[in-house]
Amino acid sequence: MAEKVAKLELPGNDSIELPVKQGTAGFDVIDISKLGSKGYFTFDPGFLATASCESAITYIDGEQGILLHRGYPIGQLAVESNYLDLCYLLLYGELPSKAQYEKFAATVRNHTMVHQQVEFFFRGFRRDAHPMAMLCGVTGALASFYQDSLDVADPKHREIAAYRLVSKMPTLAAMCYKYSVGQPFQYPRNDLSYSGNFLSMMFGVPCEPYQVNPIIERAMDRIFILHADHEQNASTSTVRLAGSSGANPFACIAAGIASLWGPAHGGANEACLKMLEEIGSVDRIPEFIERAKDKNDPFRLMGFGHRVYKNFDPRAKVMRETCHEVLTELKVDDPLLDVAMELERIALEDEYFISKKLYPNVDFYSGIIMKAIGIPTSMFTVIFALARTVGWIAHWKEMLDQPGHKISRPRQLYTGEAERDFIKLSDR
Ligand code: SDX
Repeated sequence: MAEKVAKLELPGNDSIELPVKQGTAGFDVIDISKLGSKGYFTFDPGFLATASCESAITYIDGEQGILLHRGYPIGQLAVESNYLDLCYLLLYGELPSKAQYEKFAATVRNHTMVHQQVEFFFRGFRRDAHPMAMLCGVTGALASFYQDSLDVADPKHREIAAYRLVSKMPTLAAMCYKYSVGQPFQYPRNDLSYSGNFLSMMFGVPCEPYQVNPIIERAMDRIFILHADHEQNASTSTVRLAGSSGANPFACIAAGIASLWGPAHGGANEACLKMLEEIGSVDRIPEFIERAKDKNDPFRLMGFGHRVYKNFDPRAKVMRETCHEVLTELKVDDPLLDVAMELERIALEDEYFISKKLYPNVDFYSGIIMKAIGIPTSMFTVIFALARTVGWIAHWKEMLDQPGHKISRPRQLYTGEAERDFIKLSDR
């Protein structure tokens, strides 16, 4: 099929023809790499209309509310798969056979411990340090232990780093929690599932055996699945940008954790629960809806809106169902769920939210589930980072596997001073 071309008319009766690249789904892209030869850059702050890379990992259709991982719909994966199965799919592109799954699960299980010295990093933190501050620090520090997976040019090193990070993130996340509550760190247990082991490291204590509740284990696994990857979001783009310079994988993931921490991104689940607690009761919802609409009020409804989804976030749908299942099965009657359900109903009927296409996103219900599981609010974004590590690593590997990848280096529209001569201090 003849290559599609976009013709750009430029000032001064000039023009340029730019090739149009077509993907397997979604928007086509205009390859602007030759535009510099005409003395122009494109201008797209926040990259609202910019494709930064070619990727085959995740596809999102914001208008239709579609999310596919390697072509499989998130609704099917969340119900039929499990997190480790999804990790394999994201990392290798295909669902594993039974033998491949067992081998992958065994490898992950055998890398869950961290070097004993890692404990000493935690001792430098205040006990009330935010768990994300601790996770960001210790993840970057892993680079000081694993010399055999720092050479990003070596595919074997990249694969070992991928295993280590997927395996150790639950251990580090649980250590952040244990340190903050003054309890001893719990070692991983190889007799438990990935999610069961995480719950054991979080809530187990040396004084008695920890019994995994299968309902909570399944809910935790589903939360991991729903947060695993999401195309070129802010934190994933951060990991790609850091990785493009050849930085080691632990440093790149630490950069992703830092970006995810922001309340507009992964920090929204913590901020959403705090907002629901601040609203407190159904009768105060209208007051907060009005504040969210007030241009002079920086308040926004946390857990609502999305840069890409202008329809329901498909993950929020699954999370909503899971929320009801978990609270029913655990016999938890949380008034915050009533506030959340009423807030969702009112917001979805409000002209402001309808006109701006603001729907509940993945963070709206996850906090309520995690609270029901017994996870403190300050750990919500840590859980998000744990789950998203496999997505970050999959994109990092994909970028480095692509031949001819370059360091990312955006340009700018310069609006500063034209060149001028220096004035000595004595003459000012
Ligand atoms: C995640 O990118 C990803 O994929 C992220 C993520 C992932 O899995 O990686 O999906 C995870 O980060 C989900 C989003 C979590 N964040 C929140 O819930 C925080 C609250 N949401 C907003 O901050 C906001 O909706 C964003 C940041 C999520 C998206 O913002 P956009 O697309 O940049 O839109 P915008 O800020 O330009 O807002 C468009 C309009 C504005 O009004 P106008 O200036 O046009 O008059 O909608 C308004 C905004 O004021 N608006 C909101 C709102 N979100 C947007 N008004 C009230 N409450 C909100 N939540």
